[in-house]
Amino acid sequence: MKIKSKILIIAGSDSSGGAGIQADIKTVTALGSYAMTAVTAVTAQNTKGVKKITPIPTKNVQKQITMILDDIGADSVKIGMLHNVSVIKCVYSILKKYKLKNVVLDPVMIAKDGTKLINSNSIAYLKKLLLPLSNLVTPNIPEAEVLTGYPISNKDDMIRAAKKILNMGSKNVLLKGGHLKSKMIFDILATKKEIKIFKKRKIRTKNTHGTGCTLSSAFATCLSQKKNIVKSCKISLRYVDKAIASAPGYGKGFGPLNHLVSLNLKNSNV
Ligand SMILES: Nc1ncnc2c1ncn2[C@@H]1O[C@H](COP(=O)(O)OP(=O)(O)OP(=O)(O)O)[C@@H](O)[C@H]1O
Ligand SMILES: [Mg+2]
Repeated sequence: MKIKSKILIIAGSDSSGGAGIQADIKTVTALGSYAMTAVTAVTAQNTKGVKKITPIPTKNVQKQITMILDDIGADSVKIGMLHNVSVIKCVYSILKKYKLKNVVLDPVMIAKDGTKLINSNSIAYLKKLLLPLSNLVTPNIPEAEVLTGYPISNKDDMIRAAKKILNMGSKNVLLKGGHLKSKMIFDILATKKEIKIFKKRKIRTKNTHGTGCTLSSAFATCLSQKKNIVKSCKISLRYVDKAIASAPGYGKGFGPLNHLVSLNLKNSNV
């Protein structure tokens, strides 16, 4: 199999392998592309929770990224956990300087166990600097509430919030619906042209560690392989859904997904 494209991942490390950089690398690889990384923080965690977060100094993050871009280059960029203003400003300057396209921003703020991963000052800078440079931003419901200030408790609230985030400057928004308390999940894609609602049955499982990281990396991979926004969305959502459904059940808490499920997916065009 030939490698299809190159993806730069800027995110935190998850020692348990289910989320963060580890989930990103697995996703990019499983979908046929080449993963490169800049680690922004090292977390000590498992399926039950986050124990410790050690930030990597901005200068180090910057060097990791520029070493990649000055040599290999990237067809798309996936941005995950950026824990402080200094790192956000650094990533902003690099995106501008290298004129990077196909930027997928996962505005990670809170881990699955409720641990805060970013401070409020950083959220303001994320909005101001990085949203306008993103081709797609992928907030979950709590993150969309923080970004918009709107409470979200149903599909209509989600649509309203997705439109507001679109107006903040991102070219496209995918508001993820995993957190809504209902039997169905709605993932809302807002583009300049349309609102598309992807509806599916919620799988009853605890194995949802890293669903968001996996989705945004799948998206960045699809974009780097020159698929359009709607197609990238369909493929990425299907991949995450199948990866949850076939999760190995590791750990006592929120277990990881099966990133290798793509190898069994026929006609997935990935
Ligand atoms: N129980 C589930 N069944 C099916 N799909 C799910 C389930 N939970 C989440 N998903 C899907 O996973 C994707 C990620 O959504 P979610 O809202 O969980 O993101 P997230 O909160 O950012 O995840 P993370 O906690 O990994 O950061 C969405 O496309 C959502 O539809
Ligand atoms: Mg998330």
